Amino acid sequence: MTNRNDIQKKQSTKGNPIIKIENLMKSFGDNAVLKGFNLELYEGENLVIMGKSGSGKSVMIKCLIGLMEPDSGYIEIMGRDLSRLSRSDLDELRTEVGFLFQGSALYDSMTVRENLEFPLRRHKHKFGIVEDTTPLVEEALKNVGLLDAINLMPAELSGGMKRRIALARTLILKPKIILYDEPTSGLDPITSKEIIELMRNIQKQYKTSSLIITHDVDCARVVAERMILLVDGINYAEGTYNELASAQDKKIKAFFKH
Ligand SMILES: Nc1ncnc2c1ncn2[C@@H]1O[C@H](COP(=O)(O)OP(=O)(O)OP(=O)(O)O)[C@@H](O)[C@H]1O
Ligand SMILES: [Mg+2]
Repeated sequence: MTNRNDIQKKQSTKGNPIIKIENLMKSFGDNAVLKGFNLELYEGENLVIMGKSGSGKSVMIKCLIGLMEPDSGYIEIMGRDLSRLSRSDLDELRTEVGFLFQGSALYDSMTVRENLEFPLRRHKHKFGIVEDTTPLVEEALKNVGLLDAINLMPAELSGGMKRRIALARTLILKPKIILYDEPTSGLDPITSKEIIELMRNIQKQYKTSSLIITHDVDCARVVAERMILLVDGINYAEGTYNELASAQDKKIKAFFKH
């Protein structure tokens, strides 16, 4: 594990962060969830955030994409202060930040093709009006190995397939950053492994930077280049998987007990 000074030294060699969160605070009534959370994601990096259920991981990520307003703190994405963006600027920035919701959040009444076309139509400013969406839809589906599912409805897909389609829907806008909220939750170990493999391939192919929220230790071990443990509303510890897994601190150890 590294202390604050070491962290700062290491970070100064990595260039500018593509995402920066400083002193983020968010409460719901008496429930103080985030109490000064900090994070920096560097270009091309896979950063894993681990925290217990209810620790505020989804709240943090919702603040990050402007779905929830923090009480205070500073959030910067690709050099832009989130609090100063107009709605249309925020919308434009969102096309650079793919978000894989906890669950999958496909539109149940739309086919797979229509689900994938949706972001293309919503974010016209990125690609202009796409007359023929088929090549983009097919490319995204090929990337997740599910071209054959193009005309299926979400109800016809397994949990793992839904997760892949949701990932394809995120990829179709060719984002620079992908935020994954619990990408393997609810999946069996083999399907989880496939999704993790897919995440790694996507990062290699598209050179994306990823923030991965999980409480799956196996997922963290495989994908994390660096990890942050969210405990008691703050970034309690940071380091590589091995650094954190061998730490003696009780609260850190609790994460790695199987
Ligand atoms: N919209 C909301 N209104 C009130 N409380 C909320 C709201 N969203 C989240 N919370 C509370 O914030 C806390 C953190 O929730 P969050 O969903 O971020 O947890 P999490 O770390 O993502 O958990 P999990 O691993 O189960 O997904 C919980 O106590 C939750 O009840
Ligand atoms: Mg959550």
